[in-house]
Formats: sequence, C-alpha cells, structure tokens
Amino acid sequence: MGLLTACGLFLLYSVQLAASSPPFYGKSALGHTSPARGWNSFVAQSNSNGLSVGYVDSQCSFFYNNVQPGYDYICSFDSGWSVSCNGDDNGRILADPGVFSTMSIQDFAEKLHSNGMKLGIYMIPGAFTSDANKTVEGTNITIGSLFNTTVDGRTGINNNYNCRNDFIYSLDGVQQWHDSVVKQFVLWGVDFVKLDYITPGSSLGDNDGDSKPANDSGAVVAMHSAITRLAPGMRLDISWALDRQEPFFDIWKHDADTLRVDQDINAGNNPVVWAVLQRTLEMYRQFITLTIDPSPMMIRPDMDSLVVATNTTASNWSAFSTIERYSQLTLWLGAGANLILGSDLTKVDALGRMLTTHPEVLDAAGFTANWPMVPKLNSGAPSQLQAWIAGPNSAGTGAEAVVVLSNLGPDLGQGAFGTQLNGTQGVGATLAQLGIGSGKWSVRRVLGGGNGKTDFTNLGTVNGPAGVVNASLVEHETVLLKLTKVA
Ligand SMILES: *[C@@H]1O[C@H](CO)[C@@H](O)[C@H](O)[C@H]1NC(C)=O
Ligand SMILES: *[C@@H]1O[C@H](CO)[C@@H](O)[C@H](O)[C@H]1NC(C)=O
Ligand SMILES: *[C@@H]1O[C@H](CO)[C@@H](O)[C@H](O)[C@H]1NC(C)=O
Ligand SMILES: *[C@@H]1O[C@H](CO)[C@@H](O)[C@H](O)[C@H]1NC(C)=O
Ligand SMILES: *[C@@H]1O[C@H](CO)[C@@H](O)[C@H](O)[C@H]1NC(C)=O
Ligand SMILES: *[C@@H]1O[C@H](CO)[C@@H](O)[C@H](O)[C@H]1NC(C)=O
Ligand SMILES: *[C@@H]1O[C@H](CO)[C@@H](O)[C@H](O)[C@H]1NC(C)=O
Ligand SMILES: *[C@@H]1O[C@H](CO)[C@@H](O)[C@H](O)[C@H]1NC(C)=O
Repeated sequence: MGLLTACGLFLLYSVQLAASSPPFYGKSALGHTSPARGWNSFVAQSNSNGLSVGYVDSQCSFFYNNVQPGYDYICSFDSGWSVSCNGDDNGRILADPGVFSTMSIQDFAEKLHSNGMKLGIYMIPGAFTSDANKTVEGTNITIGSLFNTTVDGRTGINNNYNCRNDFIYSLDGVQQWHDSVVKQFVLWGVDFVKLDYITPGSSLGDNDGDSKPANDSGAVVAMHSAITRLAPGMRLDISWALDRQEPFFDIWKHDADTLRVDQDINAGNNPVVWAVLQRTLEMYRQFITLTIDPSPMMIRPDMDSLVVATNTTASNWSAFSTIERYSQLTLWLGAGANLILGSDLTKVDALGRMLTTHPEVLDAAGFTANWPMVPKLNSGAPSQLQAWIAGPNSAGTGAEAVVVLSNLGPDLGQGAFGTQLNGTQGVGATLAQLGIGSGKWSVRRVLGGGNGKTDFTNLGTVNGPAGVVNASLVEHETVLLKLTKVA
C-alpha cells in the first residue's frame, strides 16, 4: 500500500474512532464471542521437553474442573503431534502414535471434555508430497493433481516445504481434502485448530529458506468452509505475523477467530524476555489502531503464549520479574487476546494461580473479551507511558470501563517508542483524555505489580473531564483498573 493510501486510511480510522463508540469485538467468523483460554505446548517444546500425551495431560490438568463457565479452555498441541511426512490412505493428517502412546487422541479428547477442557491441534497448509498418488476421500481426484508445482522464476519458491506441497486452491478436490481432514478432527473430538505458516505473513521474504507461496490464504478460506459445515463450535486460529492490509485482512476476519499479530515471543531454548513483549504489544497497538474496522470487529488478536504462571526459581521458560508477570497478563487481557498459557503448569506458584484463576481477574477478562483496550495518550502513537481504555460499554449510570496504565520501561530495541525514561514514572490521564469525561466514576484497582500497593481495592471516585486516573509505575509495571459510572 502506498504512503498516501496508508495516511488516508489512518485519517479515516482516526475519525471513526473519535466519532463512534469504542471498539467492540463482535461475533467471530466461526461464531465465538470470547477468545480462547488454556495451555499450548510450544514453549515447553522449545525448552526441550518432548511432546507426549502424558506430558500434555499433566500440564493441562491444572485447569481440570477449574475453568470459568462460558469460556473455552483449550489444551493444545503445537507442531509435532501428527505424523510428519505422510497421511492416511486418503492423505488425511494422522495423530502420531509415538505422541499418543499411552492414550489415543480420541480418549484424550474425551478426558479433556469430561474435565471441562477442549482439545487443540496444529496444522500447516498443503498435503504431503508422499501422498501425491492417493485420492482425496470420496473422490477419484489424486492429491498430487491439486499441488501447485509452478516455480516462481524470480524467487525460486516452489511451494514444497516440510514434506508438503501447497495447493492450487481453486481446483476441485482441494475443499474436499480439507473437509476430509476436518471430519477426521471431529471424529477425534478436536475443538481448536491452529493453522500456522499462513501467507502473506509468516516470515515469507525473510530469506530463511521457506519455500512458501506468497499467498496461501486459500487454506484459511477452505478451513473456514469445512468447519462451518462440518464442525460447528470448532475454533480457527491463524498464524503468524499476518499481513493486515487488504485484501487479506478482510479474508482473515471473515474466516478465522483469532490472528497472530506477531512472531513467536520465545526463541528456542531461552527464557522469554521483556524486550520481546514490547514488540508484541506494539503489534497489538497497530492492530487495534490501524487495521480495525468500524465496530463490531470480527477477529481478535493472538499475541502468543502467556508465560506468567511460574517464577524464575521454579522454571526458566521465562525470565520475568514479578512485576513483568503481572504486566504480561494485564496487557494480553486488556487486548482481548487469547489467554493461552505457555508456562510449566506443574510448577505454578501462588501468584501464577491468582493471575490465571482469580474470579475478579477473569471477570475483567470477560469484559475485555468484547471491549479491547485502545491507547489514549500521545495520540495513540507508540509510547513508553500509556493510558489505555476498554469500553465504556454504555453511556449511562452503571456503565463500565477497564483502564490499563503502563510503563513499558526504556525501549529495548523493538518497542517502536524509542524513549529511555528510566526508573519510576507517573502515568495518568484525565477522564476527558480517556473519552469518558462526563459524569462521576468509581475506580477499583484490580491488578498491579504489587509494588507496595494493594490489589482488589476501591480507590474512590473521579469526577468530570479534568478528573485524573493515574499511578506511579516502575519500569515494566502496569495497573488494571475497573471504572464504574456512578452518576
Ligand atoms: C506416483 O506414481 C508414479 C507413477 O507410478 C510414480 O512415478 C511416483 O513415484 C509416485 N509418486 C509418489 C509420491 O508415490
Ligand atoms: C471412481 O472411479 C471408479 C472407477 O472409474 C468409479 O466406479 C467410481 O464411481 C468413481 N468414484 C467417484 C466418487 O467418482
Ligand atoms: C503457484 O505457485 C507460484 C509460486 O509460489 C505462485 O507464483 C502462483 O501464484 C501459484 N499459483 C496459484 C494458482 O496459486
Ligand atoms: C490469494 O489466493 C486466493 C486463493 O488462491 C485467491 O482467491 C486470491 O485472489 C489471491 N489474492 C491475491 C491478492 O493474490
Ligand atoms: C533450564 O533448566 C533446565 C533444567 O530444568 C536446564 O536443563 C536448561 O538448560 C535450562 N535452560 C536454560 C536456557 O538455562
Ligand atoms: C516459586 O514457585 C514455587 C512453586 O513452583 C514455589 O514453591 C516457590 O515458593 C516460589 N518462589 C517464590 C520466590 O515465590
Ligand atoms: C537512569 O539512567 C541514567 C543514565 O543512563 C543512569 O545514570 C541512572 O542510574 C538510571 N536510573 C535508574 C533508576 O535506573
Ligand atoms: C495523580 O494526579 C493527581 C492530580 O493531578 C496528582 O496530585 C498526583 O500527584 C498524581 N499521582 C501520580 C502518582 O502521578
């Protein structure tokens, strides 16, 4: 998109934001009204923990019969749960018997369901090249005849990767292949699919050797169609760092429930660090300020795993301080993003338990599941110190809003705000700046970084446009406030 068009769009959206009601997430393309919660195996796998159904069971048991009713808690396998280089007789994805050695995937799904959880699995576009001579279930169409084998002369991209070949999505047979895969998932009891390596997005162009086509959005459309007809209730999460420009954003929002706004927050066998969260939050800021439609929005962000449930003594999967643990949860929650943990749930401490299960925290998450936070200071531009507001959900007395005050700390290189304000900072906004300048609001502190203040306490009332909501925040500290209009 050219600069002029981008500026034009920005102006258009700014005007809409100012003129209309606050951003609202409506029903997603597959009918969901809240983001997924639960656990995903990717961070564990990155930290050299082998993937097995027993291991995943031990992690997810943290949530067994301990979920907030009305929300989907997914126990999700990342890459590695399925046979890597071939499908069944019709080229359908197979669960790896090595991973499901002690329990079949069907039995595990049943166990999860009986404990109030749901099953998530992972796939990437295309079918296996070794299945080229097999036919798509219920047809005489060979899988190989559906492959796009055209090599892009300029880039050498041949669509062949990870034992697979991507499809020509318009061909008769491609939808039937996706249907057959989704039917299989339904028989097993799968409730959530993470569809990774979608383009445009997913590193294409970063010269890391992927031979992916520039546009395989057709996979998202085909999965949406299959799920809609064959698997009502199933969720579709698409990944990663997806292009948010048109015509693609329109495809994403009409076909998936959530989209990854950024790359992985973890890098191999290393603890997750704060510098990366500055980048992911910036990707969210762009998502919510630049690419939104007029409300209701249909697609929610996936900001990758929350690694807030453990301390660094018990687990080295993240390097977060106590304050950073509060902050990642608060920022992800404020965004209305998936709340899918990547922490070692066999090592949760009291703080981790509180952050992930406290009823008042979950109620705040229930609010932001529909009303995402938007930045109000610095005209919504990248900012080390920010006041975000989610809602309000109505105009009159009783209206509610969530305010998040954040001090992201000095820019560690990927935050896009560039400032280096160090130490404690006062962060605040007037009710007028927050867009709720009329009336009187009671303020309740729900969560903060500890830091000498008490959570779950009422702070009093703030009145009129000049009334101030503020806090003194150390580097990386955030505070989550619930506001209720009292007059
Ligand atoms: C498909 O069949 C053809 C013809 O028999 C054979 O040459 C080719 O190796 C087969 N491909 C695969 C992937 O099995
Ligand atoms: C597949 O081909 C066989 C043999 O030609 C034919 O009997 C059968 O009806 C075909 N099946 C479909 C689904 O077209
Ligand atoms: C087939 O793949 C090539 C190389 O990635 C790409 O340029 C072309 O657009 C693709 N064709 C279709 C129909 O998707
Ligand atoms: C992307 O791929 C889809 C499915 O193959 C196709 O319908 C669409 O026109 C393509 N879009 C662009 C911009 O190339
Ligand atoms: C994390 O701890 C495990 C032992 O629990 C150890 O094997 C691993 O090397 C540690 N990783 C790092 C990056 O320190
Ligand atoms: C860290 O977590 C473990 C539980 O995994 C707990 O026993 C320990 O007390 C915690 N340490 C601190 C400093 O909170
Ligand atoms: C802030 O940065 C300055 C300059 O780098 C340094 O001298 C000072 O100690 C820092 N203060 C804190 C509280 O980190
Ligand atoms: C909050 O705002 C009030 C009123 O403007 C001011 O007196 C107070 O010092 C501020 N507190 C912090 C922590 O910035």
